[in-house]
Amino acid sequence: MTILFDDENNSNKDINTHSSKKKNENTSLNSIEFDSSYENNIRPKFFNDYIGQESLKETLKISIEAAKLRSKVLDHILLYGPPGLGKTTLAGIVANETGAGFKLTSAPSLERPRDIIGILMSLKQGDVLFIDEIHRLNKVAEEILYSAMEDFSLDMTTGKSQSVKSIRIPLPQFTLIGATTKAGSLSGPLRDRFGIIHRLEFYTIDELVKVIQRTAGIINIDISGDAAKVIASCSRGTPRVANRLIKRVADYAIVKSKLGRIDEKISEQALKHLNIDEFGLDNTDRMLLTLIAEKYQGGPVGIETLAVALSEDTKTIEEVYEPYLVQKGFLERTPRGRKITAYALECLKLDNKYQAQQKLF
Ligand code: ADE
Repeated sequence: MTILFDDENNSNKDINTHSSKKKNENTSLNSIEFDSSYENNIRPKFFNDYIGQESLKETLKISIEAAKLRSKVLDHILLYGPPGLGKTTLAGIVANETGAGFKLTSAPSLERPRDIIGILMSLKQGDVLFIDEIHRLNKVAEEILYSAMEDFSLDMTTGKSQSVKSIRIPLPQFTLIGATTKAGSLSGPLRDRFGIIHRLEFYTIDELVKVIQRTAGIINIDISGDAAKVIASCSRGTPRVANRLIKRVADYAIVKSKLGRIDEKISEQALKHLNIDEFGLDNTDRMLLTLIAEKYQGGPVGIETLAVALSEDTKTIEEVYEPYLVQKGFLERTPRGRKITAYALECLKLDNKYQAQQKLF
């Protein structure tokens, strides 16, 4: 199966998904190749390898089975939730499980009408088209998609003023899988055209332990159960983070431990070396919370102010940092801005300083 990759790591690459497993089979401890295709190599290809998101997997399996029994294409699917939880991976799995072709693109690269028209016209019967960040589609592209999704046709006009003609070009039947971190930003008419709408949840520690053990097996490094748990606890509920951490911890173990094995002690040392604390917070998380506590008396403070102070863009703070901090109970989003919680003050041992500050004001 061929995937047309068009995302940040895989610009316009044709990738053969089934050959990637072969690449891993010869990896020895000293030659673990953490190249740009790392994420693709460890991506599960079928439901059996995919850990977590049980209710979504069940929904998808039933819909795939029903579509097969009725000889129909699978309904359009909208997947939403924080980044790194496996939306792209699941879309690839849907294509593999249905034996369909898979085309991957993202809304910001569909700027001109001809971009979306070109992709739609290149589809084959039953293909899965994945559009990442679908909330960023422009109006024209969105309207082209309406008839493509609903009637499997392209409605276009040709000519000028009095001689305008409408033409309808039939398309093969396909399944659109849209992914977004901001379901609320999708227009009503677009959202209504998806038959299956599902939110991806953060992963539990046990699920992340399994993800880490699976990845360690693929990259051929030995890891103890306790070590996998230490890394899982610092993975922000997100397999993408877990997989990045196991890669870094494996590097550390290969260099620092004669056994080249990841045990609890090595994993703790490696995480400390990476400035990741026991709550899974990195430097930016801690700076953000400390800033709210110490400079803004615990908040509320506007997201723009935080972004300037941290030299980050608001989108990264909103979509990458905040979901985990909110889920952990460290941060509150209020209509007047962001507030740090008493729990965060206690965990980060900021309470004394903050209370001292409050007395000053
Ligand atoms: N790698 C990334 N996400 C995964 C998942 N959900 N299951 C197994 N491996 C993964």
